[in-house]
Amino acid sequence: MHAYLAEWLSLIIRWFHVIAGVAWIGASFYFIWLDNHLREPPQWKKDKGIKGDLWAIHGGGIYEVAKYQLAPEKMPGELHWFKWEAYSTFISGMALLFAVYYFGNPGYLIDTSKAALSAGEAIAIGLGTLAMVMLVYETLIRSPLARHGMAFGAVLYGLLVLVAWGLFEVFAGRGAYIHVGAVVGTIMVANVFLGIMPAQRALVDAIEKGQEPGARVAQLAARAKLRSVHNNYMTLPVIFIMISNHYPMLYSHAHGWAILAAIGFITAFARRFFNLRHHGITRPSILVISALLTAILIWLVAPTRDATDGSTGGSVSDDRVLSLLNNHCVACHSTAPAHPAFQAPPAGIVLDQLAALRQHEAKVRQSAVDTHYMPLGNVTGMTDEERGELGQWLSDNR
Ligand code: HEC
Repeated sequence: MHAYLAEWLSLIIRWFHVIAGVAWIGASFYFIWLDNHLREPPQWKKDKGIKGDLWAIHGGGIYEVAKYQLAPEKMPGELHWFKWEAYSTFISGMALLFAVYYFGNPGYLIDTSKAALSAGEAIAIGLGTLAMVMLVYETLIRSPLARHGMAFGAVLYGLLVLVAWGLFEVFAGRGAYIHVGAVVGTIMVANVFLGIMPAQRALVDAIEKGQEPGARVAQLAARAKLRSVHNNYMTLPVIFIMISNHYPMLYSHAHGWAILAAIGFITAFARRFFNLRHHGITRPSILVISALLTAILIWLVAPTRDATDGSTGGSVSDDRVLSLLNNHCVACHSTAPAHPAFQAPPAGIVLDQLAALRQHEAKVRQSAVDTHYMPLGNVTGMTDEERGELGQWLSDNR
C-alpha cells in the first residue's frame, strides 16, 4: 500500500512540476520574444516615456503592449511580478527528487560497482552537491569574473561538466543525470530569487520614492542581466536533462557524463540561434552545426557489441535463461514485485516467461547486455558471463 500511494504522490507532484515548469519557461520565452519585437512607438507614446510598443492578437482579442523606458508617471496600483512560476517549479522539483529518489527508491542513485553507498550517504552526496555548486556559483557571480561574460560562461560550463563527471563517478547513471538537472535548475531559480527579484525590487523602490535609480540599482541590474543571460542559455539544456533521464542509452553509457556535457553544449549553442534571430540576425549555420554535432554524438554513443555479447560461443538453454531471470529480474519485473520499492512491474515489463523476454528483446539487450543498467544498481550482482549468456540466448531466439 505504501509503495502504491507513493506512486500516486510522485505522479501528482510530477504533473504539478511539469505545469509549473511550462508556466515559468513559457513566461520567460514570451518576455524574451516581447522584448525583441517591440517597435518604435508613435510620438504621443514617447512623450509618456514609452520606449517600445507592440500589437498582438490572441484568443480573440487585440492586445496593446507598451514598455517604458523607466517607469510610468504614476506607478500602477497593481504590478504583476513573475516569480512564483520559478519558485513553484523549484519546490515541486525538490519534492519530486525526494519522492522518487530519496524516499521512493534510492536504488536509482546507487550503483555498487561504482560506490557501495548507503541510502543516507547517497542523499547526503546529492543534497551536498546542490549546496556546494550553489555556493560556488554565487561566489563567482559576485567576483570580478562577472564582468567578463564569455569567460564566465566557459567557467560555468566547465563547472557543470565537472559536477556531471563527479556525480557519474559515484552515482548510478540515472541518479547522476537527475542531479545535474537539479543543479542547473537550482542555479536558475536562485538567479531569480537572489538576483533578478532584488534588482527589480530596488528599481521599483527607487521609482516609488521618486528617486533617480542610483549606482547601486544599476549594479544590481547589471548583475541581474547576467543572471538572466545564464538562465536563457540554460533553459534548453535543463529541459533536455529532465527528459533524458528516461533514456537509459544515455545515462547507462560508460561515458554518460561526457554525453551529458556534449548535449549541454549543443542545446545551449542551439539557443544562440533563437537569441540572434530575435535581433533580426538569422544564422542557420548554428542549427546546421548543432545538427551535425548531434549526428556525431548519436554515432559515437551507438552501442558496440562487446565481449559480453554472445561470447559464450555455445548455445544457452531455456532453463538456464529462466533461472537467470529468476535470479536477477523477477524480484522487480513481476506482476506483484517482491522488491519493496515497486508496487507494479517497473516500466510495465514482466519478465517471468520466455515469451515476455522475446517480446522485450531489444530493450532487454540494451539495458542488461549492452549496458549494465539492469538489474537496477546491479542489486543482484549479475556477472558479465551471465549477461553474455542472456545476450546469446536473445541472439539465438530472435
Ligand atoms: C531492483 C529492481 C529491478 C531489477 C532487479 C531489474 N529491474 Fe529492470 N527496471 C527496473 C526499473 C525501476 C525500471 C524503470 C527504469 C526507468 O524508468 O529508467 C526498469 C526498466 C527495465 C527495462 C525497460 C528499460 C527501458 O528502456 O524502458 C527493461 C528492458 C528491464 N528493466 C530489464 C530488466 C532485466 C532484463 C532485468 C534482469 C536482468 C532487470 N530489468 C532487473 C527495476 C529493476
